[in-house]
Amino acid sequence: MPAKLIKGTEISKQIREEITREIEELKSKHGVTPGLATILVGDDPGSKVYVGQKEKACNNLGIYSERTDVPADTSEADLLDLVKKFNDDPKIHGILVQLPLPKHIDASRVIYAIEPDKDVDCFHPVNVGKLMIGTGRFLPCTPHGILELLKRSDITTEGKHVVVVGRSNIVGKPIANLMLQPSPGGNATVTLCHTGTKDLATYTRMADILIVAVGHPKTITAEMVKEGVVVIDVGVNRTGKTPEGKAILSGDVDFDAVQEKAAAITPVPGGVGPMTITMLMKNTVEAAKASI
Ligand code: GUN
Repeated sequence: MPAKLIKGTEISKQIREEITREIEELKSKHGVTPGLATILVGDDPGSKVYVGQKEKACNNLGIYSERTDVPADTSEADLLDLVKKFNDDPKIHGILVQLPLPKHIDASRVIYAIEPDKDVDCFHPVNVGKLMIGTGRFLPCTPHGILELLKRSDITTEGKHVVVVGRSNIVGKPIANLMLQPSPGGNATVTLCHTGTKDLATYTRMADILIVAVGHPKTITAEMVKEGVVVIDVGVNRTGKTPEGKAILSGDVDFDAVQEKAAAITPVPGGVGPMTITMLMKNTVEAAKASI
């Protein structure tokens, strides 16, 4: 039987309704409007789209948004000054510097420069450390989105074997950490696989919950999963264009074949993707609340 679809678009809409109510309360009770500053360096088309989507989400929800686009040859010192300006601005509760940055800028220096209380991406080492010990205010957006997808689909993680494929700082490492925390939504046994893993399928076949974030289409085939697995596909790969010139997106999982064996699976698009920006909005609201 084909798998149940975990519909990120619908769950994201539900969470945005909850966030809207929180924002209304912040405004009426405390006179505080959450504010997000986004910084885009250069004109990478993909990054432009993402920053545009973040701006639009702010506008739709009533979050104050300040977008700064600077040229690709902006110096690291100028970018650090810009971050400092937003660190000191009380209207701004969250700062997001879109990655990747041009090669002449050291991304980790820029991330270190963001005030941890305004680090709504949860990329600052202080927040990464807090996440590891389970005391963080912010959770990184995509992993947080995955937790919400599972929770709101009534999929428990307690005692399950979660296999994560991909060890990026943005998805693989933090989601593996969250899954092993001794708290609701975690308490799983976690295996983290990566490009150095020998015989990947041995591990993926053991997964009760398989989370894939590698950036290559069809990395996970039907032969690599067991019956009844829950699959979270974080990949967004552009695999072609429609006759109208629109990008065709596919995940890291061979969706058509794997859905025949899985109990539940996220589609691409419409699975994890919509959750990331929603959780960024949530973090901005949390930062605004903490500022009161
Ligand atoms: N580039 C790709 N994903 C992200 C993200 O979640 N945050 C930022 N700042 N840049 C990104």
